[in-house]
Amino acid sequence: MNLVFLGPPGAGKGTIAALAKERLDIPHISTGDLFRAAIKNETELGKQVKSILASGELVPDSVTVAMVRERFLLKDTDNGFILDGFPRTIAQADSLAEMKFIDHVVNFELGREEIVKRLSGRRMCKSTGRIYHIIYNPPKVEGIDDETNEPLIQREDDKEEAILNRLEVYDRQTAPLIEYYEKKGLLRNIDAKGAPESVLAQMLEAIGR
Ligand code: AP5
Repeated sequence: MNLVFLGPPGAGKGTIAALAKERLDIPHISTGDLFRAAIKNETELGKQVKSILASGELVPDSVTVAMVRERFLLKDTDNGFILDGFPRTIAQADSLAEMKFIDHVVNFELGREEIVKRLSGRRMCKSTGRIYHIIYNPPKVEGIDDETNEPLIQREDDKEEAILNRLEVYDRQTAPLIEYYEKKGLLRNIDAKGAPESVLAQMLEAIGR
């Protein structure tokens, strides 16, 4: 099953994708995670996008589409995938339509106040990308990853100024995709407010699983 997870920053796309990939046995492809890995590994792509991610702006479509196209060359996507954070512009959605058939676009709906709470409290393990929240999903030991024992970090773009910019970028460039996919009959709206297990259950029902 080929899925797209759409929604504002902090709506829980990555958290639910991490649970759903186990249930559905398909890979989770997060363009944000791919960019962060490139930055960590100091590749050419990483150098090119580092300041863009820190500010909360979008990476140019040509760069992002080329990265996704390359990711699709790996055979693990043949039986399905969860695309998290892609597409984010109409141009990216048009490119995706040329690359892959999409079964469902799951749209995570969440109010602004809760988004800001979730993003400002998010912490992550830099090497595995595992996501925590200081209140909603704390690690067993404060500030330490449960499995690797590495110190948790706060993403550069989870600082207040970048959060506000990301929300503005979302409204301007990504929200139009809601209507785009609605017109194609692919949009499945879900309420992202509940606990992760209940959001997951809603998501599975919305895609008929
Ligand atoms: P990306 O990494 O995709 O960031 P995002 O879309 O802003 O999404 P987030 O990862 O912030 O949020 P999420 O919805 O996954 O929430 P999460 O599950 O972590 O992109 C980063 C940057 O990369 C972009 O700004 C851009 O520069 C670039 N980029 C990426 N894709 C691009 C593209 N296609 N084109 C151009 N540029 C691109 O949850 C958030 C917090 O809430 C966590 O702490 C979590 O523990 C908590 N939480 C989650 N669910 C729940 C719940 N149900 N109840 C309580 N707490 C919860």
